[in-house]
Amino acid sequence: MPKIKKEKKAKDEDLFKVVDSTIDTRTERNIYEVSRELHIEEVLGAISSGKEAKVYPARGEDGKWYALKIYYVSTAASKRAFQKYTFSDPRFKDIKVSNTRQLIATWARKEFKNLKILFDAGVRVPEPYLVYENILTMQFIGEEGFRAPLLKELPAEEITKELYDEVINQVEIMVNKARIIHCDLSEFNIMVYDNLPYIIDVGQAIFIEEEQSHALELLRRDIDNINRFFKDMEIEIMPTEEILKRLKINI
Ligand SMILES: Nc1ncnc2c1ncn2[C@@H]1O[C@H](COP(=O)(O)OP(=O)(O)OP(=O)(O)O)[C@@H](O)[C@H]1O
Ligand SMILES: [Mg+2]
Repeated sequence: MPKIKKEKKAKDEDLFKVVDSTIDTRTERNIYEVSRELHIEEVLGAISSGKEAKVYPARGEDGKWYALKIYYVSTAASKRAFQKYTFSDPRFKDIKVSNTRQLIATWARKEFKNLKILFDAGVRVPEPYLVYENILTMQFIGEEGFRAPLLKELPAEEITKELYDEVINQVEIMVNKARIIHCDLSEFNIMVYDNLPYIIDVGQAIFIEEEQSHALELLRRDIDNINRFFKDMEIEIMPTEEILKRLKINI
């Protein structure tokens, strides 16, 4: 990654409309690095601020849109959340949890890696492009910087049996091909674009092979969430136990 030259930085600052007082200087520098790498010309204001990150739309020089998921580096709440998930994960055993920045960069890489595995297995997730320190850059789900709705936000008439089947289909690919369980699947972590569900927010997802003892329980919870949402919307659902039968969880 090239170093930012002083004289270039002043110019780059003009490219960003983002005025976000919560962004620290190191994160700001990281945004420049990512922008240089991907030829991003403009970053817009955050479209969301969740528990662990904010997501910003960004426009590349060719008109292509990106989503920048920028993880908070400093809040006590985020530190607690990351620790909760990373402690049990064998991939984190060598990470010093006292170093928040390192912990969060590892978390960003974890979500990136999970996205990559899911994308390569054919699950409909935003295509991951780049991870740099606390910034994950992925395909923007939506148009011209306007994000697509979450499943939660979809008008009732667009919540159909076809959409339900397609969500279950994605879970099947996730489990049977990618060998991954989402672990926070719900109407809040599925976006719907062009009538198709996109699975997002995969940082806490786990590998079935690494979590043998809890896999079934975690998967059942994910499917129950989906079933509850669609059932409430009066869509005919398949019983959770029947869905589980189609999934290969025994190792
Ligand atoms: N690739 C994307 N394209 C467009 N919008 C996105 C994309 N990824 C996430 N978003 C938007 O940003 C929001 C937050 O993303 P995500 O759920 O990954 O972060 P989070 O910090 O875990 O949020 P939360 O704590 O609310 O779950 C999503 O609800 C969605 O509105
Ligand atoms: Mg989320």
